[in-house]
Amino acid sequence: MRIGSIFENQKKEKRISITPEVVKKYIGLGFEIFLPKKYGLHLGFQDEKYSEAGVKFLNDEKEVLNNTDLIVQLGLPEDEKNSLLRQNQTIIGVLNPYDKKDKLNELVKKNINLFSLDLLPRITRAQSMDILSSQANLAGYKAVIESFANFEKAIPMMMTAAGTIPAAKALIVGAGVAGLQAIATAKRMGAIVFATDVRMASKEQVESLGGKFLTVEGSENLETEGGYAKETSDDFKKKQEELLSETLKKIDIVICTALIPGRKAPLIIKENMIENMQAGSVIYDLAAIQGGNTALTEVNKIIDRNGVKIMGESNILNKLPVSASNLYAKNIFNFIDNLFDKESKKMNINLEDEIIKNTLIK
Ligand code: NAI
Repeated sequence: MRIGSIFENQKKEKRISITPEVVKKYIGLGFEIFLPKKYGLHLGFQDEKYSEAGVKFLNDEKEVLNNTDLIVQLGLPEDEKNSLLRQNQTIIGVLNPYDKKDKLNELVKKNINLFSLDLLPRITRAQSMDILSSQANLAGYKAVIESFANFEKAIPMMMTAAGTIPAAKALIVGAGVAGLQAIATAKRMGAIVFATDVRMASKEQVESLGGKFLTVEGSENLETEGGYAKETSDDFKKKQEELLSETLKKIDIVICTALIPGRKAPLIIKENMIENMQAGSVIYDLAAIQGGNTALTEVNKIIDRNGVKIMGESNILNKLPVSASNLYAKNIFNFIDNLFDKESKKMNINLEDEIIKNTLIK
């Protein structure tokens, strides 16, 4: 098996899919690895590091596409590169099947195998391949760092001879993977942390991290069998709005992470709720690219409304691309390890395996 990766659109994506560390693991499985020169240089991974581990460098991306059976990427390559793909070649990445359905169908028709890891089932066996968790965890951490850096007061309580600084109060909206890491990070930095979610299972997790869970009065548990959030009813939305309107008046920092897979992010923080917040407060909206959890979020901008800053970036993982790539590359390796038949040394698309069945684009 010959595996390779080509450049991402580096204006949008700094992460990479093959790090020097995973090269040894692929070679251990009997793979040959091909990359274009300077593949990881922007992250400080020099070509020599890859060569030492066993990578063969080719002159350009075209040669990599021509010489490999399996391509691992973050996003789907641009159209002109896709046109170079061959029958039975395989692409593994985060292919965004909800938005890019038509493009992906065209490739499937050309008999190209596509696996999108954002479709991975959230089961125990898939945890080591779970790119949603590895990346959301880092995003939750970085959102706290970014928002705290933009907050013009200290975070922890400080009792000094000149007087006491109160601890900052943070609210985390959505306590999934990103939200739980945001709670842990904010807590470690000394903030008082509140959190809310529509899934009741998250209450115990929030509390175990030292956060205070805000329960929407009389709400049922809005969790699907797969562990994801359901769309909320109008009655729930009204009650959640009442609860958060009051809470937000006293909150300094808000981290929004609420998402419903395949849908626009729920609008949770309305304009009037932001207008009632204290000047100097900061909202970091991790759902920005899916439409945002606030009414004022704009991608890659910091909006200022009466002194309240609302931040949201298209890809926060570009702010820690080395850590993100290290985890992503390992997730992808573990996925391929499961896909690869060790005896025949070939890929085995076994549709009885839930992991393979769910991630294969049909
Ligand atoms: P996500 O990124 O889809 O959503 C983030 C959070 O926002 C979720 O907790 C969701 O309940 C919440 N949310 C959605 N709408 C909301 C609203 N209107 N108001 C407040 N909160 C709202 O979720 P993520 O982090 O991907 O986790 C999804 C599920 O998968 C969770 O149950 C998690 O425990 C589970 N999981 C399981 C793993 C496994 O291997 N067993 C690994 C990782 C996650």
